[in-house]
Amino acid sequence: MDDVLDEVFERTLKKSVFKNRRVLLPDYIPPTLLHRDEEIRRLGLVLAPSLKGEKPSNVFIYGLTGTGKTAVAKYVLDKLVKKAGELGVRTRYVYVNLRQRDTPYRVLADIAEALDLRIPFTGLSTGEVLGRIVKRLNLLEDTILIAVLDEIDFLVKKHGDDLLYKLVRMNSELKDSSISLVGITNNIYFIEHLDARIKSSLGEEELVFSPYKTDQLIDILKSRAEEAFIPGALENGVIELCASYAAKEHGDARRALDLLRIAGELADRLGEDKVVLEHVKMARVELEKNRLTEITRTLPLHGKLVLLSVIQSTLAGRRYGTTGEIYDIYKRTAIDIGLDPVTLRRVSDILSELDMLGLISARLISRGRYGKTRVVSLESDAKTIINVLSEEPFLGESSILDRIMKSLGI
Ligand SMILES: Nc1ncnc2c1ncn2[C@@H]1O[C@H](COP(=O)(O)OP(=O)(O)OP(=O)(O)O)[C@@H](O)[C@H]1O
Ligand SMILES: [Mg+2]
Repeated sequence: MDDVLDEVFERTLKKSVFKNRRVLLPDYIPPTLLHRDEEIRRLGLVLAPSLKGEKPSNVFIYGLTGTGKTAVAKYVLDKLVKKAGELGVRTRYVYVNLRQRDTPYRVLADIAEALDLRIPFTGLSTGEVLGRIVKRLNLLEDTILIAVLDEIDFLVKKHGDDLLYKLVRMNSELKDSSISLVGITNNIYFIEHLDARIKSSLGEEELVFSPYKTDQLIDILKSRAEEAFIPGALENGVIELCASYAAKEHGDARRALDLLRIAGELADRLGEDKVVLEHVKMARVELEKNRLTEITRTLPLHGKLVLLSVIQSTLAGRRYGTTGEIYDIYKRTAIDIGLDPVTLRRVSDILSELDMLGLISARLISRGRYGKTRVVSLESDAKTIINVLSEEPFLGESSILDRIMKSLGI
């Protein structure tokens, strides 16, 4: 046993391909942002009036995940507040991530704290906190507060848009001070469903971030890699491969950086002194598994059952199952574990949702004079899914999963 541990320790202490791994972690803020000059300039233009003591317009920023929205917003606001300090203008800025601060109370408490108010962890009503913020801003005179509300869709999904409405309206109660909002989201559906009044006031200005192209991702990765790895640690083509994988996944810089970091970690773990293309390929598989685990875990119970039925329908070497076959299997399983099955219609909708998540593929094919039928195939790793499903009490205790694992040979 000792030998095993010795080896583990030895490897960990051994030279690493990394000089500074931290530079590749998701929360690291790089000193410069490449290929975002236009976005930085536009956000700067919208917020710059605060330097003259004028209230900036509210801005709505959207774009797919990993396109630099958070990084750009933080970058611009840090610079703006620094400049305001130099000029002696009273501009304050608060950044709130609404995925982490997921109640209206927490969001307001963060805003209040940016104004040096102390808010107890619980105990006040949101109306009370709101009132204190207004009072404080009026007392501070000529203060411009810019509140960045990142991942704004999370709060609205859970608690509705009441808070946004109140924040937008707050200005009518302020005398010489003002509050401006920078809302950020990667969820396009969210915008479509937002109340029209809020949409128009929050979106006085709009900024859309487009996905990065492969060569832009290469530049971003290169500048990080210089800080992160010891010289010569990357085989030729490693960065290009990370970039091209990430470009295929809608130009996501986070994904590109994750791939590079995990590839480096794998090289270290395997005791190798160079990151090679194979490590990137392995990193991709690992990331894909993590993503699949996360998505599967958050599916509602019937979604999990339908996914399981797709796996079952494609057992025994079959590549496709039809909607009807999958529904039969689903119904049997549901009854087996003591649940009321949902309708065929609903299962059909669930199949479309699973398709959109990329877990399965559901295509309509023509069967000549028999009309059209939908064929469904699994597009993700069955073993990873089954592992997640075994966490579900309903399924974990039944023998279904065991049987499937046997037929899959896992
Ligand atoms: N132009 C860039 N130059 C350098 N690094 C970048 C650039 N754009 C993004 N990054 C890095 O990529 C990662 C993802 O960026 P960011 O967090 O800003 O994405 P996002 O658009 O906010 O995504 P999400 O919608 O998922 O929150 C971060 O680590 C960030 O530092
Ligand atoms: Mg973000």
